[in-house]
Amino acid sequence: MSKTTAKKVFDVAQARKEFPILERTVNGHPLIYLDSGASAQKPQSVIDCIARYYREQHANIHRGVHHLSQQATQAYEDAREKIRQFINAEHAHEVLFTKGTTDGINLVAAAFGRKFLAAGDQIIISTMEHHSNIVPWQMICEQTGAMLKIIPINKRGELLMDEYESMLNDRTKLIAVAHVSNSLGTINPVEDIIKLAHQRDIPVLLDGAQAVPHKRVDVQALNVDFFAFSGHKLFGPTGVGILYGKQALLNDMPPYQGGGDMIERVTFEKTTYNTLPHKFEAGTPNIVGGIGLGAAVDFVSQYDEQEIVAHEQNILAYATKKLTDIDGVKIVGTAANKASVISFLLDGTHPFDVGTILDQLGIAVRTGHHCTQPLMDFYGIPGTARASFALYNNRADVDALVAGVRRAAAMLL
Ligand SMILES: Cc1ncc(COP(=O)(O)O)c(C=O)c1O
Repeated sequence: MSKTTAKKVFDVAQARKEFPILERTVNGHPLIYLDSGASAQKPQSVIDCIARYYREQHANIHRGVHHLSQQATQAYEDAREKIRQFINAEHAHEVLFTKGTTDGINLVAAAFGRKFLAAGDQIIISTMEHHSNIVPWQMICEQTGAMLKIIPINKRGELLMDEYESMLNDRTKLIAVAHVSNSLGTINPVEDIIKLAHQRDIPVLLDGAQAVPHKRVDVQALNVDFFAFSGHKLFGPTGVGILYGKQALLNDMPPYQGGGDMIERVTFEKTTYNTLPHKFEAGTPNIVGGIGLGAAVDFVSQYDEQEIVAHEQNILAYATKKLTDIDGVKIVGTAANKASVISFLLDGTHPFDVGTILDQLGIAVRTGHHCTQPLMDFYGIPGTARASFALYNNRADVDALVAGVRRAAAMLL
């Protein structure tokens, strides 16, 4: 995407000040928040936007002639336009508001699946998918008789691209893969995945939940067909997300849910449907969520993307080195191309115990299978501890984590 000269210089100390929650203590220690992969914290601008909306603007949208309704509608549609620019979609009506990544993937599985899948067809996903990019496909496969095919990975956590290529055939109807793995941090070669699929006219859905917080995504440059992400991982509110879809595909798909707003005309005999994006947005949406997500996009867009990437890669390299230096620590997911996510194990301990000791020190990491049980099965482990870093994390956070893991090792081993 084009860079503008008006970008603010990224400074982590400055950025931290925008997040009030980082000032609090947990268990008597300053909060060290290393769970942004699960949900990112919110900057003051997003918090203010949400409060302002409820204080001054709230009304239902798309329906009223009255002033407030029109204002709320304008704010909601302005947010859609901001998000269109953020992902560089061609049209605002290709940007659908959803409840989040899970909802977006379920929408495609149900609506695309109902129209285009038949017995014997194949959907390709990968070993490292989040459950939300596995289960919706299993559900539609059960209904249609289609089958799931799984791209294998190596021990570093990288897709075996030759195997992927050889899996593509005339029965393949859709590819659905994570852009960035939430458990491993692997950044998948999505450009190649899409090119190979398009050579056979197969559409591709990217689960972008872990991509947009770390890198700017240009859906037109990628030429991706569907792209789903969640607002709350991008410093925005919970309960809102985006499904981008190419208009030709969205127009071809039947609606996902029926109700208000998604109709053109209803009679008891027959209903005709509204145009995009409304056809896929039944019912009163999460209005404040959409507007808050617009504010979150404003927040990230104020920085030069390359500076954020450089900062996070610096933290990733520093943390990887420091954690690897600890006896007994093993990092799960060592792909050459990674986002700032580190899953690790401490030999002879359970990740839950490590996470509990870290919590006592005010350090928030995630423990468990991270909604990727088949991936954990691949590694033959029940789960990991995972530190996921966002733009507001600094080297002091890493030092606290490393000291905490050393303490856990001393207590547990
Ligand atoms: C890669 C990936 N996909 C999908 C999801 C689901 O996101 P949500 O729960 O916001 O719908 C997550 C959440 O952790 C994720 O990391």
